[in-house]
Amino acid sequence: MPRDDLPVLEMRGISKTFGPVRALEDVSFTAWAGEIHALMGENGAGKSTLMKILGGILKPDRGGEIRLGGAPLHLEGPKAAHAAGIVVIHQELALAPNLTVAENIFLGEEMHRFGRIDRAAMNRAARPLLERLGAPFAPTDVVGRLPLAARQMVEIARALAARARVLVMDEPTTALSERETEKLFTLIEGLRDEGLAIIYISHRMAEIDRLADRVSVLRDGRYVGTLTRAEADHARIVSLMVGRDVASFYKKDHAAKPARAEVLLEVRDVADGGRVRGCSFTVHAGEVVGIAGLVGAGRSELARAVCGISRRTRGEVWLEGRRIDPASPAAAIAAGLVYLTEDRKADGVHLDMSIHENVVLATLSRHARLGVRGLAAERARAREAIARLAIRTPHERLKVRALSGGNQQKVLLARLLETRPRVLFLDEPTRGIDVGAKSEIYRLIDALAAEGLGIVVISSELPEVIGIADRILVMRDGRIAGELHAGPGAPVTQEAIMAIITGTGTKAEAHAA
Ligand SMILES: Nc1ncnc2c1ncn2[C@@H]1O[C@H](COP(=O)(O)OP(=O)(O)OP(=O)(O)O)[C@@H](O)[C@H]1O
Ligand SMILES: [Mg+2]
Repeated sequence: MPRDDLPVLEMRGISKTFGPVRALEDVSFTAWAGEIHALMGENGAGKSTLMKILGGILKPDRGGEIRLGGAPLHLEGPKAAHAAGIVVIHQELALAPNLTVAENIFLGEEMHRFGRIDRAAMNRAARPLLERLGAPFAPTDVVGRLPLAARQMVEIARALAARARVLVMDEPTTALSERETEKLFTLIEGLRDEGLAIIYISHRMAEIDRLADRVSVLRDGRYVGTLTRAEADHARIVSLMVGRDVASFYKKDHAAKPARAEVLLEVRDVADGGRVRGCSFTVHAGEVVGIAGLVGAGRSELARAVCGISRRTRGEVWLEGRRIDPASPAAAIAAGLVYLTEDRKADGVHLDMSIHENVVLATLSRHARLGVRGLAAERARAREAIARLAIRTPHERLKVRALSGGNQQKVLLARLLETRPRVLFLDEPTRGIDVGAKSEIYRLIDALAAEGLGIVVISSELPEVIGIADRILVMRDGRIAGELHAGPGAPVTQEAIMAIITGTGTKAEAHAA
C-alpha cells in the first residue's frame, strides 16, 4: 500500500565511480508524491548518473540505499525499476526505433495470448493512453518515423502504462519547439496533480520557474541542498550550483569593440525552395550577428542553406570578396564557413570515438597523418581545446559517450574551431549548457570575434542574443523582417525584437529604436 506520510522516493548514500572519475559521492535525494522536483547542477555534476542509477541502468557502488514508498528497493536492472513504477526518460531517448508505438509502450511487459504476443490487445490498450496525452499518432505507427516530440510522448505513455509512481525527465525540452514544450509542461503538471513524483532536469531557469515545486542541487557529484519554490530564486540556485556567487548572465561591453569595416560574408537573396524565401545580409570581421525569430521562422534553414548543408534554389554566397556558393558542408568548411548544428545527436559528435579523435576529425590531413609526431601534435591540440573550452574530463582519450551532455556540446564546438573558420554559424550553441559554462561560451564567442572572425548566433533565448550580438537580424516567415543594432550602453530590447517577430514593428521603426 502506498503511504503518503512517507516520501515516495528516498535515495541515501549513493556513490558511483567510473575508474578514476568520482561521478557521485554519498548523495541523498528525496521526492514526494505530487511534486515536480527539479534536479540541477553544472555540466558533469552527476544528475544523469544519479537518474541512471534510479532507472536501474547503472549499478551504484556499495553502501547506498534506495527506498520506494518506504520499502527497500533492489534494482537488478531497468526492468526491475520499471516494474517497481520508476520510469526514466533519458537525455538520449531510448526507444526501439523499429517497433511500433504500442510495442514500445509495453516493451518488456508484452501482452500474450495463446503463448504469442498479442499485438491487437496492446494496440487496444495503448489507444486510451495516447488519447489522454492528446497524441497525434497511432499505436501502430513505427517509432523511428515519428518526430522527437512524438517519441517523447511515447515514453510518457510508457510511464502511464507502467502506472509509474516516479517519472524522471532528463532535459526533455532541448529539441522541442515552444509549442511542443508548452504542451509537455501542461502534461507534466497534469501528471503531478494526479500524484506522480516528477523529477525534472533542465538548465533553463525559465522552466524551473514555471514547473518546480522544489529544487535540489548537485555540485561535483555531491548533494548540496534543496530549496522550496519560495526560496528558489536564480541567484540562490546558481550560487548553490557553482559554490560561490556569480553574475548569472554575461553582459558584453558593446562599446569596447567596434566592428571592423571589412565585410567577410555577404549573403544575397538566398532561398531554399522551402521555408527560406529570399534573405540577404552581411557579416563583418569581428562582428557577432544574432538571428532571432520564432521556431519555424527559418533561422536554422537559412544557416544550413548558406553553409552548403541544404540546397539553395536561389541566391549567392560571397566570402571575403569571392563567390563561393558551397555545394556541400565540406566545400563550405574548406572555404572557411562552418555551421555548428543544433542537433548534436543526429549529426554531431561521434559518441564512440575519443575526445581527441572527435576534435581532430575534421582536420586529419593537417596533422601528418601517420607517425608519432603527428599523433603527439594531435593530442596536444586536443588538450589545448579541452583547456580552452573548459571541457570536464580526466584526459583526452575518454570516449565522448562518457562525457556529460553539456561537455559533448563543447567537444563539437572544439572540432569546428579546429577547421580555422572565417565565419562561424552557431545554432543554439548553449543548449544543454549550464549557467557557468554558458558565460564561458559567451566569452569564447567574444574572443573569437576579437580575433577577427565573423560569428552568427542563432538562439531562441532572447536575453542570450541580446547579450552577445552586436547586431540582430529578426526573421519572420522565411524573410529577414528587421534589423536591430546595439549601441554603446544601449542594448537592443526584447520588446523591439518581439515587435518585429509579431509584425507590429517595421524595419524602419526598428532602426530608429
Ligand atoms: N560511462 C562513463 N564513464 C566514465 N565517466 C562517466 C561515465 N558516465 C558519466 N561519467 C562522468 O560522470 C560525471 C557526471 O556525469 P553526468 O552525465 O551524470 O553529468 P550531468 O550532471 O548529467 O551533466 P549535463 O548537465 O552536462 O548533462 C562526469 O564527469 C562524466 O564525465
Ligand atoms: Mg546529463
